[in-house]
Amino acid sequence: MGGTSELSLEEQVVILKERLAQAQKLTALGELSSTTTHEFNNVLTTIINYAKLGLRHKDLATREKAFEKILSAGTRAAKITSTILGFARNRTNSFEPTDMVKLVEDSLLLLERELNKYRITVEKYLDAVPHASANPNQIQQVLLNLLINARQAMPQGGRVVIKLAHDTAADMVDLFVRDNGCGMTPEVLHRIFDPFFSTKAGPDASGKGGTGLGLSMCRDIIESHHGRIRVDSTPGKGTAFTIKLPVFHKVAATPLTGTTLPTTISTPATPGA
Ligand SMILES: Nc1ncnc2c1ncn2[C@@H]1O[C@H](COP(=O)(O)OP(=O)(O)O)[C@@H](O)[C@H]1O
Ligand SMILES: [Mg+2]
Repeated sequence: MGGTSELSLEEQVVILKERLAQAQKLTALGELSSTTTHEFNNVLTTIINYAKLGLRHKDLATREKAFEKILSAGTRAAKITSTILGFARNRTNSFEPTDMVKLVEDSLLLLERELNKYRITVEKYLDAVPHASANPNQIQQVLLNLLINARQAMPQGGRVVIKLAHDTAADMVDLFVRDNGCGMTPEVLHRIFDPFFSTKAGPDASGKGGTGLGLSMCRDIIESHHGRIRVDSTPGKGTAFTIKLPVFHKVAATPLTGTTLPTTISTPATPGA
């Protein structure tokens, strides 16, 4: 990395922001890969065991059952890799109509077992909501970050509530993630979106957390979506995050330049805005 001293302050800020984004992404990929490796091990164990079963038993019914199990395990593995690949591939700001119910289910596919292992139950209230205008990979990353933080806030186990709702007044899709973990003091709460702010000693046993990059990444992503992120927390009781994303609308007639758009109309994102 070259020195930045001969550049203007603005240029240095741009470069440092890019580096921060890169660090956020690498951290997220690192966390994902540890989860994936674990999940893959589970899938492979299933496949190997059912393949053995199929070889041992010659009757059709057993073999059919074995093939079905192998197929569903293989499908699961394929879904997991496509999540990682989708995430690793790009960080473009292309927004598309996004099915939030599917996005939540896909994210849980990756983390459900890990949450179970830490004795955390997941309660879902996934009402059918309008499609959000979003980059699904990025929003999935936000949700994974929130779920990992929630899990780490409940070392003795607990409960995570995930809820979707349509805020008709604001024309936004709301995603709530609530835990009944340790909560935060006002001092901590003030700093959680700062890059590198962390109260954790370092990555945990599954290689997650401790960098202080998770929530700063969440904030950057939600801002680029013209969304909102808010948090409520009570020490000893728990924490609730709310993500608000604009509802996706087909762009109708091109508005005249110079007119002010009502905020309820989602406009295509301008990268870097
Ligand atoms: N659900 C939560 N419950 C309690 N504290 C939280 C929660 N989510 C985030 N925090 C606090 O915010 C800090 C920053 O979170 P984050 O940016 O994800 O970094 P990291 O997880 O690497 O520490 C955490 O260290 C923790 O103190
Ligand atoms: Mg985190």
